Amino acid sequence: MTRVLRTRAELRAALADTPRPIGLVPTMGWLHEGHRSLMRRAREADATTVVTIFVNPRQFGDPADLAKYPRSEARDLAICEEERVDLVWAPPVEEVYPPGFDTTVSVGQVASPLEGSARPGHFDGVATVVAILFALVGAEHAYFGQKDAQQVMVIRQMARDLALPTAVIACPTVREPDGLALSSRNVHLTAEQRAAAPVLHRALAAGREAWEHGERSAATIRERMRAVLAGEPLADVDYVSVADGRTLRELDTIDGPALLSLAVRFGPTRLIDNEVLEVDPTEA
Ligand code: PAJ
Repeated sequence: MTRVLRTRAELRAALADTPRPIGLVPTMGWLHEGHRSLMRRAREADATTVVTIFVNPRQFGDPADLAKYPRSEARDLAICEEERVDLVWAPPVEEVYPPGFDTTVSVGQVASPLEGSARPGHFDGVATVVAILFALVGAEHAYFGQKDAQQVMVIRQMARDLALPTAVIACPTVREPDGLALSSRNVHLTAEQRAAAPVLHRALAAGREAWEHGERSAATIRERMRAVLAGEPLADVDYVSVADGRTLRELDTIDGPALLSLAVRFGPTRLIDNEVLEVDPTEA
């Protein structure tokens, strides 16, 4: 049976005598197969699985974006039950940010480009809420999706710098059969936009293919990806990036691990996706 907890105190009490290790899966709800894959990883590795469901107002710049974020707690709890999650923490806003709350966790370099520059304040909101969750749950492991690659890097940096004992584990992106990465935001796409959206994955695949054929110019790979996106009239490109996989600085030459990443709007809905280029050990 999944237990649902609302307050910090209830969560702490439930965790006091729970078997260890604990695996934490932070989410904003509207759960899908991507979230389920994280829960399964936790169940395999950990004695207790804790899922948090909290649409974190601090990571939304635009109040309209926050207001339209899809929510359905009943559906989410049924999914947690199916995945045999032990504890769900679904708090009201004031349990996460009690009156007088006045701290921001702000990560530096890896939080500044890409999503950080497109969505000012976003990663401060993410790092702050995840620091609270790590402190409250005290999990041995926390699971995050590679779909939000920069988010994983920001949280790793935060956990390392603040000496939080929770290990951050990145899990592969779950995709629809046509390549579209699962996202709670996909629900906002019209049928036409949904049909166009796999262009993100096709653009990333073209970038990877060029790299696999020996292309090392970041500008050329950006161009390849842009060319694929340009073939889809509904896709309004926000950014196309070829960045250092460790620092997220934009590259001239790919001479180590790199992150290809994209943000593309379809009408009001903004989708992101990425692809990691690992170095062949014989090349490094
Ligand atoms: P949310 O968007 O609900 O995502 C929760 C977790 O699921 C994140 O780690 C995200 O990367 C992962 N995820 C989403 N889509 C995925 C997919 N297609 N495949 C694999 N994993 C996927 O990310 C957040 O919430 C919030 O920023 C949060 C970390 C909870 C802080 O508020």
